[in-house]
Amino acid sequence: MNEIEEIKARLDILDIVSENVQLKRSGKNYTGFCPFHANTRTPAFVVWPDTGTWRCFGECNDGGDIFKYVMKREGWDFPEALRQLAARAGVELRPRTPAETALREEHHNLRQLLEKATTYFRHQLFHNPEGKIALDYLHNRGLTDKTIEVFELGYAPKGWETSFPIFLEKGHSREDLIAAGLASEREDGSLYDRFRHRVIFPIRDGRGRMTGYGARAIDPEDMPKYLNSPQTVLFDKSNLLYGLDKARRSIRDEDQAVIVEGYLDVIGPYQAGYTNLVSTMGTALTEEQLRQIKRLTRKIILALDADAAGEQATLRGLQVARQTLDRQTEMVFDARGLLHSEARLQADIRVSTLPEGKDPDEVVLEDPALWAEIINKARPIVAHVMRTLAEGQDINDPKIKTEIAQQVLPLIQDLPNAIERDTYLQQLARLLKVDERSLHTLRPKAKTPTRRRQPQFQPDPDARGPQVTVEKLVSMPGAGQAHMINKLEEHCLSVLMRQPELIYKLNRSLKEADLTPLSTDDFQNTVHQEFLAAAVQSLDQDDLNPVSFELDHIPFELLEKAERLLESSKKVNPAQDYVLDDVLRAILRLRETNLQASNHQIRFLLEEVQEANPDEITRYNTLIQQNVLKLLRIHKALASPSMKAAN
Ligand code: UTP
Ligand code: MN
Repeated sequence: MNEIEEIKARLDILDIVSENVQLKRSGKNYTGFCPFHANTRTPAFVVWPDTGTWRCFGECNDGGDIFKYVMKREGWDFPEALRQLAARAGVELRPRTPAETALREEHHNLRQLLEKATTYFRHQLFHNPEGKIALDYLHNRGLTDKTIEVFELGYAPKGWETSFPIFLEKGHSREDLIAAGLASEREDGSLYDRFRHRVIFPIRDGRGRMTGYGARAIDPEDMPKYLNSPQTVLFDKSNLLYGLDKARRSIRDEDQAVIVEGYLDVIGPYQAGYTNLVSTMGTALTEEQLRQIKRLTRKIILALDADAAGEQATLRGLQVARQTLDRQTEMVFDARGLLHSEARLQADIRVSTLPEGKDPDEVVLEDPALWAEIINKARPIVAHVMRTLAEGQDINDPKIKTEIAQQVLPLIQDLPNAIERDTYLQQLARLLKVDERSLHTLRPKAKTPTRRRQPQFQPDPDARGPQVTVEKLVSMPGAGQAHMINKLEEHCLSVLMRQPELIYKLNRSLKEADLTPLSTDDFQNTVHQEFLAAAVQSLDQDDLNPVSFELDHIPFELLEKAERLLESSKKVNPAQDYVLDDVLRAILRLRETNLQASNHQIRFLLEEVQEANPDEITRYNTLIQQNVLKLLRIHKALASPSMKAAN
């Protein structure tokens, strides 16, 4: 049991509510006058001790658990309500775990150290006599002092024990220096500088926070040519894109991002006015990197070296891209005239191949206009992959033909435009010297709803079968029903917190069914309402990936639960239609259950309303009718083909 459950278990909702509401027993429940709106005639406020929840069926039509109740009554936010109720219940709140506090402090401390180091390296570039070699090197590579300043380039001096003692003097510990990746430890425990006689490229994350360095050798004898910070708590090169902090605005404004391979390939073009470039750091493009870009634009150009390594990286990057970017489902008629849905990649990925043996920075240096031309001529990935795969292969070998076709066809299938798809199919047929019709036979089959795979994650098994009728749910003992509702809520959140963007799709589906958008009111549990709020807020920002944002914004007492929910949806692929259907279905079931319970309760309240109160009777009857109407829409939505398939 976590702290929240412990508090709920120890406190009696009747005690809490009774502090300001006079409750009267009414069957299994208690009724009273709602404390949140002026009313005197009939008690429309109900408390269910079994489930620990309350609801006003009058004007405010609001409800929830004890947390929500005291939040509303006292005007507290959730953390405050938690503190107060914990004290009252005698539940000791776990203090922010030492590990957690330490982690936040450590990150902050290390970033500060890196800021100081960046300033130090910059100073060395201009003021250390030996830094002159580095400065000359950068000038020789065509960079101006202004550009050097914008990118905060620096110089790490010669010697093994030159830089780190300065940071020790400034009060940083040995451990900090190692953790920040500035110094390494010898066997005998002594320290030495990691970066020696190198040009320093500070690497900031998308929010501009220091993470580490790339350091280029000046002496051609020095190996490796580029030495990066080691993997640290702040520096993970597979999560970072060099230059993103400076490029994000342009990427958004120009609605296009160009991905290159080297630090100087970002800086050179930037100086020439091409400011929408970012670079990977010697690794293949990762999902996390693409995720950061796709928040800014869906138009991505990979501008990679002409050499074989470049091509390989391209192909790998493309695989990642296809897996990462969402697809939008569209309904199409297939060859036999049958309607089915096909997923199209919601991104325009193109590839620019650079002139043989040239890097972007060299191209731009020689001829800035040529860069624009190369980017404009970027080819859609299909064309690129087709050509790359066919190069140097014996196209007449039927095995090779099949292999190429199998790799290229999924890419063609991904294209949003039908004419483009046809064009590439023809091209592929010509390239492989086969009849276009034989390609159709190889085409990967689109999934039809009836053949849809079952979700790997399931909410409560009770809640899945189509036989689970509302009547059954409502007739379940209170605690059982509360358990089911809780499971459904957790299930929705585990997916939505991991993929908040699904909320947009979910709302679209709800709208199509003439139902109101998802809201915190769909959840009974205040903790779950907090989680949904954090997920929704994460959509309004693009500094952090949604999960990090949520974990940053959820009160830390709830982190454990949040992490548990996130863990359970780790394997969920949001691109799969059934994921959306599944969450939609869970939401519909929740609403169904809640509306049924409401109507049940209102009928109960109706019995208590005196005959002499016709207005009240009319109001309750209207409420029931409205709920029935909503229920009809929900049932209709649940009966639609895709919902049935998900059953
Ligand atoms: P390149 O070898 O293509 O370097 O490596 P470059 O960008 O053209 O560098 P210059 O123009 O010679 O200065 C591309 C990227 O791969 C990573 C670096 O991030 C580099 O920018 N790399 C390369 C390393 O991490 N280590 C290396 O030893 C070499
Ligand atoms: Mn280069």
